[in-house]
Amino acid sequence: MQVANPFPIVQYVGPEFFCDREDETKDIMSAIKNGRSITLYSIRRMGKTGLVHHILHKLDKQKRTQTVYIDIFDTVDDTQLVNALCSAVIFAIEKKESNVLKTVTKFFGKYRPKLSFDSLTGNPMIELDIVSDQEVKVTLDTLMKIIADQKGIFVIAIDEFQQINYYPKSRMAATIRSYIQTIDNLRFIFSGSEKNLLVDMFSSPKQALFRTTQLMPLYSIPKEAYRAYIVLHFKKKLKKISLESINDILEWTDRHTYYTQYLCHRLYERTNKQVSQKSLDEIKYQILKENEGVFINYRRLLTHQQWQLLVAIGKEGGIDEPTSKDFLKKYKLGAHSTVRRALSALEDKQLIYGDYLTDDSKPTYKVYDLFLYRWIESL
Ligand SMILES: Nc1ncnc2c1ncn2[C@@H]1O[C@H](COP(=O)(O)OP(=O)(O)OP(=O)(O)O)[C@@H](O)[C@H]1O
Ligand SMILES: [Mg+2]
Repeated sequence: MQVANPFPIVQYVGPEFFCDREDETKDIMSAIKNGRSITLYSIRRMGKTGLVHHILHKLDKQKRTQTVYIDIFDTVDDTQLVNALCSAVIFAIEKKESNVLKTVTKFFGKYRPKLSFDSLTGNPMIELDIVSDQEVKVTLDTLMKIIADQKGIFVIAIDEFQQINYYPKSRMAATIRSYIQTIDNLRFIFSGSEKNLLVDMFSSPKQALFRTTQLMPLYSIPKEAYRAYIVLHFKKKLKKISLESINDILEWTDRHTYYTQYLCHRLYERTNKQVSQKSLDEIKYQILKENEGVFINYRRLLTHQQWQLLVAIGKEGGIDEPTSKDFLKKYKLGAHSTVRRALSALEDKQLIYGDYLTDDSKPTYKVYDLFLYRWIESL
């Protein structure tokens, strides 16, 4: 495949431009083969969607395996999810448009199906006129019956799955649970970034989907693998890059996938023959400058305490004890209780997150957006 830049920053463009994730891919493929569904979670921009597409791409090459992918971030209720799922499944099964129409009319005729186009992606869509809970259930049951009748494994990937928690009076979790338990050839890959919501759905005994999937956290790509990937793609176009520059890139971006990709993408674009430390520094500076307007806006939108705390966390490069005396004193943050409140507000706004990597019981609080963190650091 021809691409203008080997460091994709928008979407998955194929295995050639996908770095590592070999262990994760192997684990998920094996789970699918053995009949387990998966829940993939991480902080934002770590590479979940990319990994899901990478796996579906591999599965599509296998005989007797069919896959569909839907992103339900924009959906607001059970009906919209059912419509999205229905479209994806029917279009996956029936490759020809005339067959799609036939199948839809045969199974869903009474819901007055309309063929339309997704306004964002331009993909063809089926829209069913379903309103009541009963209709939602019957439609899904019909769809699942179609899937159960397929030869081979059927994989449904639902991205941003935590969204169903925001649906009013949703029955979706319980319904999906029954399909996982009864349809032999069906597997789900659920993914999303609101860890608390998503993990709770599958790990709390109070929830319908309790222990129905294998939970899989996604972390950074290991240093060696990312190094090799960067060297390979610069070398391919005879662009030289030193080990020091690569280490600098991985350190500055903390191997947070999107940010590493983004810096490499911009650097690759700028480089003719050789990456120099000067050009690397210039690009970093330029990226922060481009985003400065957004960052300054945060200051206006946050309370004074919230902003002070955000800056303190950024300057510190992450903090384990945000209410410790030393930290409060060093950054003049005021009372313990005020800081607790500000911390929780910043977490709600997803400006910081608790990183549980080192010790499960106590997180390190970090600035969520890596460019914001580097900008704060430079203040
Ligand atoms: N292993 C990889 N190799 C190369 N590029 C990758 C890899 N994983 C992800 N990317 C790229 O990084 C960017 C961010 O990844 P992706 O969208 O998959 O993250 P995400 O975890 O789904 O984020 P969000 O939580 O915001 O949905 C994308 O442009 C994607 O193409
Ligand atoms: Mg995603």
